[in-house]
Amino acid sequence: MTETTDHGTIESHSLEVESYPPSAAFKEQANLADPAIYWQAAEDPESYWSDQARKLRWSKPFTEALDWSNPPFAKWFADGELNVAENCLDRHVAAGLGDRVAIHFEGEPGDTRTITYGELAHEVKRAANMLTALGVEAGDRVAIYMPMIPETVIAMLAVVRLGAAHSVVFGGFSSESLRARIDDAKAELVITADGGFRKGRVSALKPTVDDALRLDDADGTPSTVQKVLVVQRGGNEIEMQPGRDLWWHEEITAYEGDHTPQGFPAENPLFILYTSGTTGKPKGILHTSGGYLTQVTTTHRDVFDLKPESDVYWCTADVGWITGHSYVVYGPLANGATQVIYEGTPETPDWGRWWSIIQKYGVSIFYTAPTAIRACMKVGRQVPEQYDLSSIRVLGSVGEPINPEAWRWYHEVIGGGRAPIVDTWWQTETGAIMIAPLPGLTALKPGSAQVPQPGISIDVVDDDGNRVDRGQGGLLSVARPWPSMVRGIWGDPERFVETYWSKFGDRYFAGDGARVDEDGDIWLLGRVDDVMNVSGHRLSTAEIESALVEHHAVAEAAVVGADDETTGQAVVAFVILKSQQQLVSEAEAEAELKKHVSGVIGAIARPKQVFVVTELPKTRSGKIMRRLLKEAAEGRDVGDTTTLADTAVMQTISQRVRTER
Ligand code: PRX
Repeated sequence: MTETTDHGTIESHSLEVESYPPSAAFKEQANLADPAIYWQAAEDPESYWSDQARKLRWSKPFTEALDWSNPPFAKWFADGELNVAENCLDRHVAAGLGDRVAIHFEGEPGDTRTITYGELAHEVKRAANMLTALGVEAGDRVAIYMPMIPETVIAMLAVVRLGAAHSVVFGGFSSESLRARIDDAKAELVITADGGFRKGRVSALKPTVDDALRLDDADGTPSTVQKVLVVQRGGNEIEMQPGRDLWWHEEITAYEGDHTPQGFPAENPLFILYTSGTTGKPKGILHTSGGYLTQVTTTHRDVFDLKPESDVYWCTADVGWITGHSYVVYGPLANGATQVIYEGTPETPDWGRWWSIIQKYGVSIFYTAPTAIRACMKVGRQVPEQYDLSSIRVLGSVGEPINPEAWRWYHEVIGGGRAPIVDTWWQTETGAIMIAPLPGLTALKPGSAQVPQPGISIDVVDDDGNRVDRGQGGLLSVARPWPSMVRGIWGDPERFVETYWSKFGDRYFAGDGARVDEDGDIWLLGRVDDVMNVSGHRLSTAEIESALVEHHAVAEAAVVGADDETTGQAVVAFVILKSQQQLVSEAEAEAELKKHVSGVIGAIARPKQVFVVTELPKTRSGKIMRRLLKEAAEGRDVGDTTTLADTAVMQTISQRVRTER
């Protein structure tokens, strides 16, 4: 059955799922409009990826694509050499594109800067000279703790230009989280700012760096940091420690914009990015250069149908997350795209901010997270309807499953019923997009990420690693190594093998549940481990539990990710207080513990609710039954409790939750 509405053609499928095929006009101009790409790439993925890699500039060409002789440690293009910053900058300037705008920067207070590729290359070269003078060399690690401003991109590119690796830490993380990441990577330099603008105020960053560097780590050793380079942005008052702290704007004046890029091996570390796992300790996900750049560039061009000469692209992610690394910094710049970078929040000064930016710069490709879309939906369509969004031709979604209702709103209200939505599934570990529609080829289904990218082999499998039939659910796995795959967990090869490869042996275990429908399209169903997804950000239940029990009043804690209308999941904690603490009112304890978690990990981990309880549901062997707590937190009837040591516990907890809801 086919039905035509104002918003395009809706075809209903066997499963009664709506489908939005590409319009003839879109197909006509699409980068990829021939479905043969899929089987051509599948026939020989290594040659497909080699062709993509050769579009980059190599100072020494590679002769072999994949080396999988020591699984699960993959090497791609290993005997080739390239400079990642040169690929993002000098290459475009040399091709005569120096005057093309690389970044339209919009500060939250309304200040703006337009930076061309020529200017960005110049600034990165100066910064590279400055970092060299500060002792940064190939093989080093530099920590970056910054707001969303052009200097953040400049700092990242200057570090990698020298063959060093960055470890960007999201500006919302606490001093303790920052210190743990600095220590793990043994960074000797931190690049930060006095502060940045958020929600109409200056949010300080440098004082958090000071605190981080003051903290003694567990065995009392001082931090590895020798120098702190500070960008002036917020204008807030900060302390500068003589001999350690330097102002970026003062130092940089001594350096010229001449710097010859050196090629580094394709497997040279590019960055470490910490992400939450199932234990309390974040994992330092290591990415290297040649394969990573190949896949982010290819997917950025093909999934968003990028036309670098005419598109204005905007990805709203912060560079503190993988989406910011791959689709604000490396993908767009390596493709020579023009993009918007916005410093602040979508509601400042009001909920029209994003839409006014789209109108102002004529944004044509817009990439954001479902949680943001749902927040905008709540505010209402009357806000975006006040702006001219007709420049938009492709929309993207990332970070969590997009519910069909949010998909339809995004398509209709933001995309004018014309713009295809690419729902992109990937992870910090995959480095680049793995599953997503190709907008000129795929008939879109709201709520499904649908198809593995050309050259990527994904299977949904059962617990034993056997592929499930169409119509069935199972676990998402990647069958073959891909260019931008995680190369290891920094300093912990055993954890790398254990986390991703011990389950199936030769397949990568993603940690996500998924279903394949009758057409072979993939539907993501959320994490199958103790990792939560709050507003598209990954948080570990174990990490928050360990923060809670660090508090002197807490005897025991259990944390679950409960379904939440806006944020996807929300952190809900159940705590038992130590006996002498019973006199504190529950409300006081709840407020104090929320604040405590923010202080230990960062505001993103702040529980939405904290319930003080007298007991937690445990099996007879003493294991906490988080599944039951999740059901209670979601207000659902708690099912079978017969395996509990004390079957009455859940009744008390459910009642407690119900009175709060
Ligand atoms: O559960 C999946 C979810 O986010 C997890 C990865 O989180 P992170 O490493 O922080 O990277 C987020 C941005 C790439 C995945 O294991 N996820 C990400 N994208 C989607 C998604 N779930 C469903 N649909 C998506 N499009």
